[in-house]
Amino acid sequence: MSDLDKINSIFNAKIDSVKNKEDLQNLKTEFFGKNGQITQQFKTLGTLEPDKRKDFAVNLNKIKDDLSNQIEQKSFEIENAEISDKLKNEKVDVTLPIRPYHQGKIHPVSQVIDEISSIFSEIGFTVAEGPDVETEYNNFTALNTPEDHPARDMHDTFYLEKNKKLLLRTHTSPVQIRAMLNGKPPFKIIVPGRTYRCDSDQTHAPMFHQLEGLHIDKNITMGHLKGCLDYFIKEFFEVKNVKMRFRPSHFPFTEPSAEVDIGYRIENEKIVIGEGNKWLEILGCGMVHPNVLKNAKVDPKKYQGFAFGMGIDRLAMLKYGINDLRAFFETDYRWLSHFGFDPLDVPTNYRGLSK
Ligand code: DAH
Repeated sequence: MSDLDKINSIFNAKIDSVKNKEDLQNLKTEFFGKNGQITQQFKTLGTLEPDKRKDFAVNLNKIKDDLSNQIEQKSFEIENAEISDKLKNEKVDVTLPIRPYHQGKIHPVSQVIDEISSIFSEIGFTVAEGPDVETEYNNFTALNTPEDHPARDMHDTFYLEKNKKLLLRTHTSPVQIRAMLNGKPPFKIIVPGRTYRCDSDQTHAPMFHQLEGLHIDKNITMGHLKGCLDYFIKEFFEVKNVKMRFRPSHFPFTEPSAEVDIGYRIENEKIVIGEGNKWLEILGCGMVHPNVLKNAKVDPKKYQGFAFGMGIDRLAMLKYGINDLRAFFETDYRWLSHFGFDPLDVPTNYRGLSK
């Protein structure tokens, strides 16, 4: 057996046991490295007789090509094996059931706030906010509620200090003052937020939610107020017609003041908002009192407008047929999965608010 045949058979025996890239690299070095067996054979070429040299060189080149091809082929096989190994380990089992993405639910109060914001934004209102801890001045005094005014008692205030300077806001109305002091007229805002009163039964909770509205500009009248509320009630309850009446009332911060009732009837033990011969009180409103404007550094001779305030929880109860307010704040998951909303169904006017 010639030297070349020996090299060939050694190589063939070895390449079969190559398992990975490292084995292959070793094999390559053994045959083609600086002192490799093939490299060595090339070095002998110069020592051969010219007539033998040619044949030997032809054979040597043939073997060299053959072995390099085998190495290349092996490298390709190893690479492929590695890739399919990887794919096997990383594969996704598409037969597994999907994880429900909407385990969480949107609370009816959050849903209703989103609905209300969407409705009012359609007619140019922006959303403003204020702190839950409020000054006695913003909550009462600046809103034209004198020291001895019965509203201060009616509101069952949670005071935070003995001197009564700080309190948990009893309504969202103080944000009217904050918004006006912070900007220049015109103002066109709604304010959803938490409010607090020392009160608790089936329809009252110590923490509840209100929505305030304020529109101040030149020449704003009660006609605008009426149009605005009519639009809101229809959109919110998703009905074409709503019977509405304004009853004279009193709030220190508006003059004149009114309470608004909407018509309803009971059908199959369910409340139907819009028409019928029963009345439901839904909100308080009026033309902003000149004293309030003055306290908020707005000139009442130039600017005027309306304000309104309503209970968000009550709106949610009416719209979604929930009859105990306290359940809103009990964080009972079963209740929430029944009355809650899908997080991906963001309410918008054009797509439908609650569908
Ligand atoms: N702040 C009042 C309340 O909590 C509601 C209210 C009535 C707000 C009339 C207003 C308004 O802005 O004009 O009972």
